[in-house]
Amino acid sequence: MSENTEKNVEMENIVSLAKRRGFIYPGSDVYGGLSGTWDYGPLGVALKRNVMQLWWKMFVDDRDDMYGVDAAILMNKKVWEASGHTATFTDPLVECSNCHGRFRADKIDTSKCPTCGKENTFGEARQFNMMFKTHVGAIEDDTSISYLRPETAQGIFINFKNVVDTFYPDLPFGLAQQGKAFRNEISPRDFIFRSREFEQMEIEYFVEPDKWEASFNALLADTHAFLNALGLPQDKIHELEVPAEDRAHYSKRTIDIEYDFPIGKEELMGIAYRTDFDLMNIQNNAGKSMEYTIKGTNTKFVPHVIEPSFGVERAVMAVMAAAYTEDEVNGEKRIVMKFPEHLAPVKYCVSPLLKNKPELVEKAREVYQILKKKHGNVMWDDNGNIGKRYRRQDEIGTPYCVVVDFDSLEDNNVTIRDRDTTEQRRVAIADLA
Ligand code: GAP
Repeated sequence: MSENTEKNVEMENIVSLAKRRGFIYPGSDVYGGLSGTWDYGPLGVALKRNVMQLWWKMFVDDRDDMYGVDAAILMNKKVWEASGHTATFTDPLVECSNCHGRFRADKIDTSKCPTCGKENTFGEARQFNMMFKTHVGAIEDDTSISYLRPETAQGIFINFKNVVDTFYPDLPFGLAQQGKAFRNEISPRDFIFRSREFEQMEIEYFVEPDKWEASFNALLADTHAFLNALGLPQDKIHELEVPAEDRAHYSKRTIDIEYDFPIGKEELMGIAYRTDFDLMNIQNNAGKSMEYTIKGTNTKFVPHVIEPSFGVERAVMAVMAAAYTEDEVNGEKRIVMKFPEHLAPVKYCVSPLLKNKPELVEKAREVYQILKKKHGNVMWDDNGNIGKRYRRQDEIGTPYCVVVDFDSLEDNNVTIRDRDTTEQRRVAIADLA
C-alpha cells in the first residue's frame, strides 16, 4: 500500500465527497440553493455531533470549573446595543457600478471588479451590519426589532448573574454554550468555512482581573489538547498573535489558531481576553450589578473574561481535510477518510459474505445487533461484492468492517478488516462487544 503523504487535497474533492456520500449538501438545493447555507446529511450530522460532544466532554463534563448554558437565539435588542454589535458589527461593503456585484472591500483588489473585470467601478466602502434583523410578535415596528444572534457569547454574559446566584461558583469558572450563530456575510465562501448560518462552541471564563494571564495560557493549552483530540496534525496548526489594530473592539489580547486548510492558512478558532467589557456594559445598560463577591470577604469586583471561541463548521472542515486520503490498495486507487475512531460517523459495518445465503444473513444480523447495541452507529451493507463494500466504507471513514462467512457458522469467528492498514483478522463473536 502506498500513500500520498503530501495530501495535496483539493477542496473540490472534499466538497464532492461530502455531497456524494451524504455528509453535507448545499442548503435549499432543490430550489436552486440559498447562498451561505448548508444542510447536514446522516453522516455529516453524526460527524458534527461527535465533534461537539467531544468538545463538551473535554471542556465541561471532565472539569469542575465549567457550567453549561443554552440561551435563546432571539434576545432583547438591548443585548446588541450594549455589546456594541448594533454599532460596530460591520464589514466594509463596496458595489460595482457596472455589474452591481457586492464585495467585502478588505477581501478584494478594489481597482478592478472580480466579476465583470471592469476597472475603477467601486466607490467609497460603506459599513454593512452583518446581523440578521427580524421582528418579534405581531407588530413590525422599531419596538419589536430583534436579531438572530451573531455570536453565542452574549447569551452567556446575560446569564452570568443567574448562574452566580444559583450555583455560587468559585472564581475562576467558565460558562460554556454550543449553538447556532447567524451572520449576513457579504461574501460567503469556501464550502462551510464562511457561512451565513453556523454553529459556535464558546466559553466565557470569569477570572480575577490581575489573574487573567494564567487562565489565558491554561485555556490555550486546553485548546491545543482539543485540536489534538480532533486528529489535526500538529504541524498544520499555527498561533497568530493578533495585532491591536486587527483585534475585535472588546479584546485586549487575541490569539487566533490558524489551520492549513486546503484553501490555505485560515482562522480555525480564536481565544480572546475580553476584560470586563461585556459585564460592565450590561451593568451600565441594564442597571444591575454584575459584581462578584469573593466568598467570606467584602471584596467585590466585576470579573474579567477569557473567551475561547470555536466554530463548529471550521472544526468539521479541518477534520474532513485531515482525514481525506488517497492511496492505493493492491494497485487500485482508493479514497479513505481516516477519521479518528471516536469521531467516525459509522463505527462498524457488518456484512454477510453473500446476501443470498439466509444462514449467513441470519448470523450477520446477530452480529449486527450485538455491535449496534454497544456502539449505536453501525451500518449494514450487503450490496455488491466485498471489495466494493470495503471501498464504500473507506470513503465514509468506517474504522472496521465485519464479515460473516461460512466458517463463521462453524467456529463463531468473524473477519474484521481495518480501514487504515486493510489488514484482516479473525475474532470470536463473543469477543466483539
Ligand atoms: N464570540 C467571539 C466571536 O464570535 P469570531 O472570531 O467572530 O469571535 C469565532 O468567531 C469563531 O466562529 C471563528 O473563529 C470561526 O471558527 C467561527 N466563525 C465566525 N464566522 C463564521 C462564519 N461566517 N462561518 C463559519 N464559521 C464562522
